[in-house]
Amino acid sequence: MSNRVNDILVKKELDGSDIITLLSLTDEKDLEQLRAAAEAKLLAERGDAVFFRGLIEFSNICTADCYYCGIRSSNYAVGRYQLTEHQMVDAALWCAHEGYGSIVLQSGERRDAAFVDFVERVVGAIKAQSRSSVLPDGLGITLCVGEQCEESYRRFFAAGAHRYLLRIESTSETLFSRIHPPAQKLSDRISCLKVLKRIGYLVGTGVMIGLPGQKIEDLARDILFFRKQGIDMIGMGPYIVHSQTPLAAEAHRYGMAPDDAFILSLKMIAVTRLVLHNVNIAATTALQSIKHDGREWGLRYGANVVMPQLTPTEVRKEYSLYEGKPCVDENSEQCRSCLTRRIESVGRVVASNVWGDREC
Ligand code: 5AD
Repeated sequence: MSNRVNDILVKKELDGSDIITLLSLTDEKDLEQLRAAAEAKLLAERGDAVFFRGLIEFSNICTADCYYCGIRSSNYAVGRYQLTEHQMVDAALWCAHEGYGSIVLQSGERRDAAFVDFVERVVGAIKAQSRSSVLPDGLGITLCVGEQCEESYRRFFAAGAHRYLLRIESTSETLFSRIHPPAQKLSDRISCLKVLKRIGYLVGTGVMIGLPGQKIEDLARDILFFRKQGIDMIGMGPYIVHSQTPLAAEAHRYGMAPDDAFILSLKMIAVTRLVLHNVNIAATTALQSIKHDGREWGLRYGANVVMPQLTPTEVRKEYSLYEGKPCVDENSEQCRSCLTRRIESVGRVVASNVWGDREC
């Protein structure tokens, strides 16, 4: 164990240079030291429970054209789909029945009135129908439908969604503008996060790790941003190339090798846990697309949330944000038992019938 690492790990509050040091570790013993500290922090702050958020990717129709994402509007190779209200309510009630306390409704980004009305209606229907003696307040509902105006955010909140995920993707102006079309602005995304907080949502954000040109210093600033904004939930994972996107060429020329992006993602989870203490951190599916047991590694490095997929198997492969997405041929039941096994294999337990929010 190096003294330098130990000196940082015993500190109460980490600063930018501590974070850079930890994210730069390569020695196996140092990494294990970091992992053990993050795991210990998680167990002390939140215990050994892992919370399920059933993930319903209800539409891949998207008006945004992000340079990294497989469902970007100008990828004409994707078959577009939209689940019905009935399919979504069914999937949500299955979750409630299985003891998942929470769901995430995620889709491509649309801001038209029909879409906003639809989301509001489905959130209300799921809330009303999922109340039971074991879940008196119904399922915890997280929305992940991109940048919206304040009024739409307020309507979704009033309908019963109480958490919102909106990844910042990168807090570096340079990187953000390199991976998004000019119409998308980092400042707009930051404003949305602030509005969501003001409305009263528990707010989640996150970044992609291993983007071409991304530096350790950028990632350190991302973590400091999470702290400064009082973020409640983190979802982040490795950037994975999708060949039908403009960023693929750059990634092939000077991108990071998947194994390196994987390790860096684990370090990001661990350091975020040390800096943000009791937040919820997801072990994301992207980790598993690089290594078959990637999500377990995420849990061992300080994550405490897993998002089993509930998207109907017929359309799942069309929600291809990146290539090599795992579990596309499995049904919800298979995902549930596989994930439970994976969680138990790292000495943790799945929580049942609770929302599992961070206590503020
Ligand atoms: N690799 C990794 N993550 C991706 N996302 C989109 N495309 C990719 C990719 N190629 C992530 C973004 C987005 C979330 C829903 O999926 O961070 O916010």
